Amino acid sequence: MEKVRVHDKTFVPYLKDAELQEIVKTVAEKIYEDYKDEVPVFVGVLNGVVMFFSDLLKHYPGRCEVAFIQMSSYVGTQSTGIVYKKMDLTKDIKDRHIILIEDIVDTGNTIESLFQYFTETQRPKSVKLATLLLKPEVYKKEFVIDYVGKEIPNKFVLGYGLDYDEEGRNYRDLYQLEEGRINE
Ligand code: IMP
Repeated sequence: MEKVRVHDKTFVPYLKDAELQEIVKTVAEKIYEDYKDEVPVFVGVLNGVVMFFSDLLKHYPGRCEVAFIQMSSYVGTQSTGIVYKKMDLTKDIKDRHIILIEDIVDTGNTIESLFQYFTETQRPKSVKLATLLLKPEVYKKEFVIDYVGKEIPNKFVLGYGLDYDEEGRNYRDLYQLEEGRINE
């Protein structure tokens, strides 16, 4: 794994594909432990979740269905704090057990908006949340995150579905913004 350059920034290797797969497998197994007698709906929060979502499904041994929704709050490497829904939910999930699948929880603004949207307008039977990555230094909300793949420091990450200004999602591995280059 070598450094990569995306737009004006340099990113250094952080987690290899094989390490990510181990993390994803553990999350899939924990979810299965809780839902083996149910048919939950995995709701992927686009776009960053694409790779995690696909790998999670491959590691999930039980029955499940899938749906997607798209939310956005980021411009460049900064959260704007304003979360808006860019694409509606693709399935009726009334009275279903749903698990919201996120790539990364940072400030928690996105999951706050999602919980509000789902509990107030969609009426699922239950809602749980799974995220591949969590930045605990930044997360200040009260919501319990039921399944966390890995806690990471407060540094911008790229690859494995996560972008910097829409690019870099296609890297198999995860990269971190290079130290000292944050204000480039
Ligand atoms: P939050 O609303 O601040 O919790 O941010 C959640 C969303 O911001 C994620 O679903 C990502 O799309 C994006 N995001 C947060 N941190 C990063 C990062 O380090 N790299 C890429 N995208 C990020």
